[in-house]
Amino acid sequence: MDRVRWGVLATGGIAASFAADLVAMPDAELVAVGSRSEPAAREFAERFGIPRAHGDWASLAADDGVDVVYVATPHSAHRSAAGLCLEAGRAVLCEKPFTLNVREAKELVGLAREHDTFLMEAMWTYCNPLVRRIKQLVDDGAIGTLRAVHADFGITGDFAPTHRLRDPAQGGGALLDLGVYPVSLAHLLLGEPSQVMASAVLSDEGVDLRTGMVLTWEGGAQAVLHCALDAATPVQASITGSRGRIEIPHGFFHPERFVLYRHGHDPEEVVADPADGPRSSYRHEAAEVMRCLRAGETESPLVPLDGTLAVMRTLDAVRERVGVRYPGEQPVLP
Ligand SMILES: NC(=O)c1ccc[n+]([C@@H]2O[C@H](COP(=O)([O-])OP(=O)(O)OC[C@H]3O[C@@H](n4cnc5c(N)ncnc54)[C@H](OP(=O)(O)O)[C@@H]3O)[C@@H](O)[C@H]2O)c1
Repeated sequence: MDRVRWGVLATGGIAASFAADLVAMPDAELVAVGSRSEPAAREFAERFGIPRAHGDWASLAADDGVDVVYVATPHSAHRSAAGLCLEAGRAVLCEKPFTLNVREAKELVGLAREHDTFLMEAMWTYCNPLVRRIKQLVDDGAIGTLRAVHADFGITGDFAPTHRLRDPAQGGGALLDLGVYPVSLAHLLLGEPSQVMASAVLSDEGVDLRTGMVLTWEGGAQAVLHCALDAATPVQASITGSRGRIEIPHGFFHPERFVLYRHGHDPEEVVADPADGPRSSYRHEAAEVMRCLRAGETESPLVPLDGTLAVMRTLDAVRERVGVRYPGEQPVLP
């Protein structure tokens, strides 16, 4: 597997960003695209020089010249699109949030394990070199015992009610699209919380416009997290321990620098290595997928499936508390 052969499923915004990064990687080959429509597949293929354009998902899933499919549909279609590929024996990198709810997430993980096929949530934050450095510092006790995580992700935009961010049928709302990042950061550092509290302001369509969360862990650590679709918040994170803290400035989910404050020491600024590329590059997650495939690993240690399931449980718990339920969903908690 000198060059890993990729397929991209869907032709929207993030599919294009990911494809642009992929075609610049010497050990990756973008060989196919799949779309709900043939013209969209052809247009995307022409744009990125992709040899095969499939006008339906099943043809992409059945394409034996593809090693791994990157699923970039709205969240509501992740379960069906990724499931189709896994059933065809295709490895899958699936955009965040992994699915609408933990029930769907368990189904995908079950399929991957049944077919012994690679599956990973595209939680690129976990593959970011500086985030990995922060995780290592925290695990090594650089700031003592972890006490608190603060993180927010709020944006503004003129989103029509039919936009995927506002449409319940497409898994709309701030939590699944944006809140997944602060929640995932807290999970990365502390694991799964034992208590979840949340409050939200809902839109007329019934998705969350703004959600505040307080998560608590057995040892007493807490995370105070926020996300919003109609407020451009600082998008920062701070991680506080008994002997110091780490501050990650704007864009904490793909940082290019952070500051380590240790009691009794001068602050230390840590900046990204320019060789790691631009901060918005998706190449680190793509590289991790290819490393796993070459090593014959069906799961990434950087983005383990049990961790993804735990994040989905927390997102479900938040939605249950604030009263966001997507069409056709049963109550999400037992
Ligand atoms: N990692 C990141 O930084 C990042 C950034 C943005 C978004 N995302 C995630 O990526 C996913 C897609 O977001 P996006 O911003 O790219 O959305 P988008 O621009 O709306 O594109 C989604 C694409 O999916 C297909 N699609 C649209 N509606 C669909 C439906 N109802 N069922 C099935 N397929 C549909 C369309 O492609 P075809 O017409 O070709 O079928 C569309 O172009 C979301 O889950 C989002 O959370 C991740």
